[in-house]
Amino acid sequence: KSLKNHNTFGIACNARYFVSVETIAELKQALSEKPSEELFILGGGSNMLLTDDLDMFVLHINLKGIEILKETETEVLVKAMAGENWHEFVQYSIAKDFGGLENLSLIPGNVGTAPIQNIGAYGVELKDTIESCNTLEIETLKERKFTKEECEFEYRNSIFKNEAKGKYIITSVTFRLTKNNHKTSISYGDIQKILADKNIETPSIKDISEAVIAIRQSKLPDPKVLGNSGSFFKNPVVDSETFQEFRRNFPEAPFYEVSPTEFKIPAGWLIEKAGFKGQRFGDAGVHKNQALVLVNYGGATGKEIWNLAMEIQKSVKEMTGIFIEPEVNVF
Ligand code: EPU
Repeated sequence: KSLKNHNTFGIACNARYFVSVETIAELKQALSEKPSEELFILGGGSNMLLTDDLDMFVLHINLKGIEILKETETEVLVKAMAGENWHEFVQYSIAKDFGGLENLSLIPGNVGTAPIQNIGAYGVELKDTIESCNTLEIETLKERKFTKEECEFEYRNSIFKNEAKGKYIITSVTFRLTKNNHKTSISYGDIQKILADKNIETPSIKDISEAVIAIRQSKLPDPKVLGNSGSFFKNPVVDSETFQEFRRNFPEAPFYEVSPTEFKIPAGWLIEKAGFKGQRFGDAGVHKNQALVLVNYGGATGKEIWNLAMEIQKSVKEMTGIFIEPEVNVF
């Protein structure tokens, strides 16, 4: 089965076996009848790069449904199944006037894969609203709940990228959202600018969502039009010594102080500095509006994208002394 329509990079790789499940019962059955090939869990395919055919058992998690578990005057617990599209779920919450997810509008992918890398944008991360996730342990087919603390969230990281990797399938995610007393986050400069242009002083969650959508549409390519996986690299966090050295050479570089000894530098700036922004090599390229995003102009293979990424990593290191690490999962 071709996976071209199952990864937002639009890479034409094939899977040896492919099964899509829509209920927990189907999921358990598929796992109990699994062939001996290695298991590959597929969600929205928005954070991965396929560099070869998968001689594996690809299990597409297509569980659907949204349910309100509990509601008070000021808060609501909402559970969304793993196969729900992330942005559609965000729009559902905004239509209901449930607050907390508005800054995460228009992020590609599904609800069930969002916790793995703790998706984040415009000053908000998934960890700020998540209550827990329900999983199925692959080995035992037993259900297990992970509380927010147990998920061990960090910047673009969680237990599901570490100890729990390959052991559990996230089946649903529960969020604690606000009602009637939204705590909005508008620290990001571009959001403030859009609100100011529209003369909005106290923005609703819908205003913020619309601002975020406008920003994303202006900077980030739509995967339906131009294949991509969002940020290809993580923003590197470096120690004081590395940072001071870097600052001496690049006093103009933007940065963000994570702690007194840790400094985050935008990888997009480093890649632009290394001269790659907007460059195209065959059908693989670097987006013209955001250098952190690698794109497939149509016929690029995963290997071509990967080679470009490694070329960028090497040049950035040589030129700036900073090592940037991929954020997407590469297979
Ligand atoms: N910059 C450049 N050139 C570029 C891109 C960025 O100089 O081509 C510099 C600019 O100085 C800019 C700064 O980098 O002020 C930050 O850029 P931006 O606000 O676009 O954010 P980012 O750090 O590049 C991160 C996330 C995005 C998220 C935005 C907004 C990571 C790896 N990426 O990007 O997430 O949308 O912040 O919060 O943390 C994703 O993960 O797929 C993703 C798109």
